[in-house]
Amino acid sequence: MPLLLRPCFRSLRRLLVTSVCILTAILTYMTLIQSGSWKVLFGSDVSESADMPFVIRSANTKGQACVPPTLSVWPNSLKALYARKPRPLRCAVAGPNWVHVDNGTFRISAQFRKSHGHVKCAYTPILRLANDMKVVEGATDTDMRDGRPITSDFFKANCRASDGSVRDDLISGIAYKDEVHKRRPAPGQPDPAALPLNVLMFGFDSTSHMSWMRMLPRTHRYFTEALGGVVLDAYNIVGDGTPQALLPILTGLNEMELPEVRRGHSGANRVDGHPWVWKRFREAGYATQWGEDGAEYGTFQYRMLGFKEQPVDHYMRPFYLAAERQYKRHYPYCLGSVPRHLNMLNWVRQFFDMYPHMPKFSFLFHSELSHDGLNDLQLVDKDTEAFLRAMNASGYLDNTLLILMADHGARFSSARQSVQGKFEERMPYMGFRFPASFERKYSEVMRNLRTNVHRLTTPYDIHATFLDILKYDSSVNQGDIRQRGISLLKEIPRERTCVDAGIDAHWCVCLAWEAVSTDDTNVKAAANAIIRLINELTDVKRHLCQSLNLKYVKSAVRYSPSDRVLRYRGSKDRDGRVADLSGTISAAEVLYQLTIITTPGGGVFEATVKHSLNRNQFSANVKEISRINKYGQQPHCVADELPHLRQFCYCRSQIQ
Ligand SMILES: *[C@@H]1O[C@H](CO)[C@@H](O)[C@H](O)[C@H]1NC(C)=O
Ligand SMILES: *[C@@H]1O[C@H](CO)[C@@H](O)[C@H](O)[C@H]1NC(C)=O
Repeated sequence: MPLLLRPCFRSLRRLLVTSVCILTAILTYMTLIQSGSWKVLFGSDVSESADMPFVIRSANTKGQACVPPTLSVWPNSLKALYARKPRPLRCAVAGPNWVHVDNGTFRISAQFRKSHGHVKCAYTPILRLANDMKVVEGATDTDMRDGRPITSDFFKANCRASDGSVRDDLISGIAYKDEVHKRRPAPGQPDPAALPLNVLMFGFDSTSHMSWMRMLPRTHRYFTEALGGVVLDAYNIVGDGTPQALLPILTGLNEMELPEVRRGHSGANRVDGHPWVWKRFREAGYATQWGEDGAEYGTFQYRMLGFKEQPVDHYMRPFYLAAERQYKRHYPYCLGSVPRHLNMLNWVRQFFDMYPHMPKFSFLFHSELSHDGLNDLQLVDKDTEAFLRAMNASGYLDNTLLILMADHGARFSSARQSVQGKFEERMPYMGFRFPASFERKYSEVMRNLRTNVHRLTTPYDIHATFLDILKYDSSVNQGDIRQRGISLLKEIPRERTCVDAGIDAHWCVCLAWEAVSTDDTNVKAAANAIIRLINELTDVKRHLCQSLNLKYVKSAVRYSPSDRVLRYRGSKDRDGRVADLSGTISAAEVLYQLTIITTPGGGVFEATVKHSLNRNQFSANVKEISRINKYGQQPHCVADELPHLRQFCYCRSQIQ
C-alpha cells in the first residue's frame, strides 16, 4: 500500500469499527428492551411483582414469641448487587472427558474410541497422606483397561489415542471398599426406634433464603412444589461464618464449647475428637460421605488443624487439594470438560450408586460459585434441578431425607448495609424433604415439621433432628423449650425465644416488640391504613356493603429490628467470636400489630401494618388482616357470591 494512503486507510478503518460498534450497541439495546432482559440486567420494579413477593408472613406467627421479619425476594435495597449477569459457563472445547467412573469401574468413552481409535491410559491414584494437608500420587498403572475396578476414589488419567491425541484428566469416583460393604452396625445398633432414612444434605455457601429463591428459582420450585419440600422461614444462624454453622449442625456444639483446635493456639488438637454426627451414623451401619470445595479455605482446616484420620468413608478433600493446584489450566469453574459443580453432584450420585442397599449419610458443600459474589450461582440452577430430578427418577429419594441448605447469607459489606441484607445474612436457606412414603407413616412428624416452618429454628436443631432419626422417640411430640437444640420432628414451642435457642442478641432475627399507646399518631395512621384497605376490598360492592369507619384502636404493638442487629458491623477477630457493634444503620421499616374495632357492625380486626420510615407510608396487606369476632349474618348480601368478602362486608340493608 502506498505510504501516503496508509493514514487515510487507518482512519477509514477506525470509522468502520466505530460504526459497527454503535450499530451493535443499538441493536443489543433494542433486543434487550424487547425481551425484557433489560429489566433483569438493570433492575426494575417488574421483578418485584414476581410470583413470590413475600415469603415470611407474620400472619403465620400468631401467638409466637419470635416474630421474624417480613422479607421480600427482590427488595430495592439489594437489587444493585444482583445487576451483573454472569457469562454462561463454558468448559474446554476438547469434547467430553475420555474417562469416567461407573459404579467403581474405570471406563473409557466408547464414543471416543470410535472416533480416535484405540486408547491407552495410565492410572495414577491420588492419595491422602497422614493428614488433611497433603496428597500424594500412588504408583502408576501404565495400562489401565476399560472395565477394571478403580483402586482409589481420585486419580489422574493420562491417555493417548492411536491417532496421536493425548489427554490428562483428574477424575473422581467412588471406589469399591470392602470394609464399608461388610460393615455391620455396632452392638445394639441401629436403635430399634431408628427411622429408616438415608440423609442427603447438599449446600451452597453464603446463600440466604431469599438469595436462593432469586438465584436458584428452578431448584427451589422443584424442591418445594414437585417434591413437596419445606423451607424454614425463621431459621436463624448462631454465629459468624461457615464453621459457626457447620459445627452446630455436625456436632451439636459451637466452637467455644469444643476443645481447642485453632492453629497457633497452645494445646490445640486436631478436630478428630469432636463428636461428629457421621461417627454416629457409621455406628448405626451407615456408609458416610463428606466433602467441600475450596480446600485452601477448608472449614475445618483454614483456621483449625483439620483431621488426622480420614473422617468419613468417602472424603473429597484430597481431590480438591490436587485439583485446585491445576485450576489455572482450566476454564473458569471447570475441570477439563466437566463443570466443577457437576463433578461434585455426580460424586454424590456415585455414592448412592455404590451402596444401594446400605443406609447412607452424605453431605457435600459447594462454595466457589457463591462465596465471593451473589450472581454466579444462577449458572447452576438448571443442573441442580436436573440432579434432584435424576436422584428422584432413580428412586434414591424414596427412602432419603433430602436437605438443601446454606451456612449463612452474603457477608460482604455491601450486602450488610441494608436492613434486609442484615436479616438475609442471618437467615440462610434450610429446606427439608421427606419421602412421600414416610409422610404416610409418620404423619405427626410431617405436621410438626410444617408447623416448625414458621417457628424460630437454628443449626443446633438440625443436629438434634439427626439424632432423632437415629433414635426416634415417638412418645414425645412437643419439643422441650429447655433444650437448646430441638429436633424438627417435634413441635418447636411457640414460646421459644433467641435466648432459649442459644442465639446471641446481635444475631437474633426476631423483631423486638413494645406495646404502644393507642393514641400514638403512628398507631392512628396504621389503623387508617387497615380501614382504607378494607374499604378498597368492598368497593366493588359499594351499593351493597357499607364503608367502614374506625371506632377505636383496642391495642397496638410495635415490632422493629433489634438495635444490636442494626449496629452489628462484623467480627472484630478472625475467629468470629467478638462482635463489632459500631454500625449506624437505622431501621427502614417497622411493623405495627393492631386490634381495631370498626363501625357499623362492631367488627374486631387484627392486622399487621408496615410503616416505611423514609416515605412515612403505612401499608396493610390483605393476607395479614383477620377478623377475630363473629360476623354472623352481617355479610349475607355478598356471602354466597363473594365469600372472600365475608369478613369485611357489612350489608347496607341492616342500617335503618
Ligand atoms: C455398584 O457396585 C456395588 C458393589 O459391587 C454393588 O453392590 C451395587 O449393587 C452396584 N450398584 C449398581 C447401581 O449397580
Ligand atoms: C419421581 O420419580 C418417580 C418415579 O420415577 C416419578 O413417577 C415421579 O413423577 C417423580 N417425581 C417428581 C416430582 O419428579
